[in-house]
Formats: sequence, structure tokens, C-alpha cells
Amino acid sequence: MSAVVWVDGTLYPANEPILSASNHGVTVGDGVFETLAVKDGDPFALTRHLVRLQYSLDRMGMQAVDIPTVRQGIREVLEANPTEVARLRITVVSGSGPMGSVRGTGKPNVIIWGGPGSAPLRCRAVRAPWRRNERSAIAGVKSTSYAENVVMAQFAARQDADEALVANTFGYLCEGTGSNVFIERRGEVVTPPLSSGCLAGITRGLVLEWAAKVGMPVRVAAPGELEMGVLDEVRQGDAFAAVSSSTRGLAPIVWLDGADVHEGPLLRRVSEMYESRAKAEHDPPPPRTRSAV
Ligand SMILES: Cc1ncc(COP(=O)(O)O)c(C=O)c1O
Repeated sequence: MSAVVWVDGTLYPANEPILSASNHGVTVGDGVFETLAVKDGDPFALTRHLVRLQYSLDRMGMQAVDIPTVRQGIREVLEANPTEVARLRITVVSGSGPMGSVRGTGKPNVIIWGGPGSAPLRCRAVRAPWRRNERSAIAGVKSTSYAENVVMAQFAARQDADEALVANTFGYLCEGTGSNVFIERRGEVVTPPLSSGCLAGITRGLVLEWAAKVGMPVRVAAPGELEMGVLDEVRQGDAFAAVSSSTRGLAPIVWLDGADVHEGPLLRRVSEMYESRAKAEHDPPPPRTRSAV
């Protein structure tokens, strides 16, 4: 039996064509998504991912989805897939629409897809020559309009790297194509603020929260504190860096723009703390209000 996907309540073989060519998600990338790790058979931090999914739908002005139905779809995908699922993707596209950008009146489609997890746990990064627009209409939204990330990821892959780090329009460090970024320097770890235009990564949020609980010096940088030039300090060995994502955890950057760089000792301890806490707490409750950090 081949892998299955769940679409709007029904399981299908993964390679079966299901969506119409007029789906606005297909024509203009009008949709949102979540990627989750599955740990010991459980979708990790599912409630937080579902909260962010609702936030993204809201920011996009898309119809809300029924969360219990999405949870049921996830259970069905995990049960139905013949091989172990290590990563889940939930995608919501806005449904059938016109050829142009104006959204149609189609019903949104919910797609849940399980697959193997293969993200490298040590990161080889390059600096992207482009900018993230922190004032974009969809800054901070996990939208399926990911073409700019695709171009940057291709740019990285051509240099044998697995992540590209990007600055925002002010030249401040922002994030990677599929990760947040953390910098260790002067005995503490800092990560760009959401005002830089980065995604409010679930992993980033948990690293910050859990580190604070155990008294580790990890904080959100002040706006403008982290210039892209901090990566020169990483190259020179005066600072260290790591990327975070649901599939990678907190992964050290060990190669940057063509040269090996060292793993940060504090970042390593933070990463170990994160992994052991994540093993113990599969669905950490979301903060009561969406934090501004
Ligand atoms: C642009 C971007 N930033 C950051 C992240 C990390 O987010 P999370 O920790 O929720 O996986 C992702 C994840 O895919 C991403 O696409």
C-alpha cells in the first residue's frame, strides 16, 4: 500500500490528483500551511501549530477551518500510512477561484499529508543576497506563497548548503527560508524580534519559553540589535549561530558561506535542554495570548 493523504475528510493515495486546476492555492499560492514533527507517533506541539494555522487564516482573510476535524484528519493519516510518519504537513488552500489574484467564492480545501523526516540536524548556511520584507501584507504569515523561499533554498543548494539566511529591508538579520535563527555571543543567545519580519516559529517560541524557565540566557534581540554583519563575527569565531524549526529542533550552523564554523557551547546546551523537554512534553500548551516577541 502506498502513502495516503487526507483531503476534506477523505483518504486518498498520495499521488492521486484531487484539487482542481482552478484552485486559487494552485494558481496564486492562496493558502496557508503548517509543518509538524511527529515524535514517538505523536504530532509535536500540535495545539500551537493549530493556533498558528488559525492566525494565518485570519491574517489572510480566509475562512476558518474546523479544528476538531483537522485533528481527526491527522489521526487518520497517522493510522493509515503504512510507513512511519516523521513529519506532517497541513495545508489549507482557498479553493476554486478565478485566474487573477482576486479570491473566488470556492470552499477552502484542507490537505493533510504525512511523510518521512529528513532535515539535516547540523546546518550549512549561506547568506542570501535578497531581503525579507518585514512590511509585506503577509509578513509573519505561514502562507503557501513560498516561491521566494524556493529561490533562496535553490541558491543555497547550488552552494552545497541546506539553508539561506536573509536580512530584512533594513539589513537586519531576519530568518532562514524554513527556520528561525539564533546567535550566541558575549555569553548569551539572542534571536531576531518578530518585527524583523520573521515567522513566529513554534520552535523559536518554545526555546525562548523553556530557556527562561530554567534560567538560561536566551532572549529576543531589540529591534536593530542584530545586523546581518553579526554573521561576519560567526565567520571569525567571535559568535556562533543556530537555526530552529519544527523538523530540525535547534540545529547548529557548522558551515557558513564556504567555511567551517564552530558550534556554540551555550547553543549546544540550549539545544539539549530543548530536546529533552520536547521528549517530555509533546503538546506544550500555547501562551494564553499571542506573544509580541
Ligand atoms: C520562513 C520560516 N521561518 C521559520 C520557520 C520555523 O518555524 P517552526 O519552528 O514553527 O517550524 C519556518 C518553518 O518552516 C519557516 O518556514
